[in-house]
Amino acid sequence: MIERTLILLKPDAVQRGLMGKIVSRFEDAGLKIIGAKMVWINEEFGKKHYFDVAQRRGEAVLKRLLKVITQGPLLAMCLEGIHAVEIVRKMVGGTEPKSALPGTIRGDFAHVSYDYADGKDLGIKNLVHASANPEEAKQELALWFKKEELHTYKSVHDAHVLD
Ligand code: CDP
Ligand code: MG
Repeated sequence: MIERTLILLKPDAVQRGLMGKIVSRFEDAGLKIIGAKMVWINEEFGKKHYFDVAQRRGEAVLKRLLKVITQGPLLAMCLEGIHAVEIVRKMVGGTEPKSALPGTIRGDFAHVSYDYADGKDLGIKNLVHASANPEEAKQELALWFKKEELHTYKSVHDAHVLD
């Protein structure tokens, strides 16, 4: 039941100075940050991470997305917690900021719609990526983090929430 999940604070979140606010949400929820690093990825790595996007959403979306995700450094983190994959996706909200619920990261910090972005041939800047399911989380964490970059330590939540 204790899971690990990948979260990326995408270049738009970094450039807008929202890293602290977004990281705080996860810390406030008691999720444990067990790995974190700032990385500026290239297109090749972006294609590996988003290997299924062309098939699911089309080549045009992948092209726009690669432009957005390689546009500057991003913050990659591994979060650990009870049902972490599902919880983090819930906190992140829906893919389209226009329809992402208030209280979610995408709903609170962005509002762009598919109509607007697709019409202008722009990638959707929705601040964060989060693994969609436990299988995706395993694959993504293997791509982004070496074993020794993920740490085991006790947090106060271990005493107050888990025990
Ligand atoms: O990120 P999420 O799992 O919610 O959605 P996805 O279907 O895996 O799509 C990956 C990313 O593609 C989204 O987070 C958007 O940044 C981007 N995207 C886009 O730029 N334009 C679209 N029309 C749809 C998705
Ligand atoms: Mg996805």
